[in-house]
Amino acid sequence: MVATSEFILSEVKNGVLVITINRPDKLNSLNKQTIEELHETLVEAENINEIKSVILTGAGNKAFVAGADIAEFANFSIEQGKQLSSIGHFKIFNFIENYSKPIIAAVNGFALGGGLELALACHIRVVAENAKLGLPEVSLGVIPGYGGTQRLAQIVGKGKAFEMILTADMINAVDALKWGLANYTTTQEELLNKCFEITTKIASKSPTAIKTAIKVINAGYNNKLNGFEVEIEEFGKSFGTADFKEGVSAFMEKRKANFSGN
Ligand code: COA
Repeated sequence: MVATSEFILSEVKNGVLVITINRPDKLNSLNKQTIEELHETLVEAENINEIKSVILTGAGNKAFVAGADIAEFANFSIEQGKQLSSIGHFKIFNFIENYSKPIIAAVNGFALGGGLELALACHIRVVAENAKLGLPEVSLGVIPGYGGTQRLAQIVGKGKAFEMILTADMINAVDALKWGLANYTTTQEELLNKCFEITTKIASKSPTAIKTAIKVINAGYNNKLNGFEVEIEEFGKSFGTADFKEGVSAFMEKRKANFSGN
């Protein structure tokens, strides 16, 4: 149903789309083609009602994603560098953050540079015990360019973000959990099960309300918007949805809600 491409594997399991970035010989680093294919997969899945949430992971047990493909940008000019960042933001990182269905990063190994930025753009992160997370860009003479300077600080606070970005140090899963970068840590073997545990909870809820909650939480981090005002507006709109009618009726009738997503 959702097409699989050269570097992106897709599988739908019980309403969950599992996307695997599949370039293990290059530690799943993000080249142009992978970014394009990932974008296309997400676009396709957004209109499939059966898909309630997405789990994003990397092939193999060594890396989630080891960053942008360094070989590909090695000779870029200033203009090309700017384009790389802005296309990435548009097609993947902002796209994921504002996706209408929850996306969980199953961080199964190295999440470095663009790989950590990818996990940061996801709504929830579950991190395997063997994972190493970091933004090593300053070692290469660049800065994080896929939202890392902004989202890392939003998630772990400015102090830890400064430390991680300026030292380029990798942190382990224990510190990631302590710092709020990981929602959970698990063994490598249990990683997807832990993600499915979360997606199962989401699956029984109103897709309309979930979509709106993502929008409103993100509004609070958009300095062009007032999150509280967006919340008031969207809260009001919820009362006009079929999901609201169903959710409240189900509660009154002491039965499980059967949401249509409208
Ligand atoms: N871009 C392109 N290729 C990458 C890559 C990246 N970000 N990360 C890893 N690879 C490639 C390596 O070049 C190597 O390819 P080769 O076998 O054709 O030489 C292959 O993936 C395996 O990586 P290797 O470095 O041999 O594995 P390792 O276990 O020795 O080291 C890392 C693992 C993650 C520490 C190391 O690969 C690394 O530092 N990668 C770059 C991380 C980074 O700086 N990311 C931010 C980019 S902005």
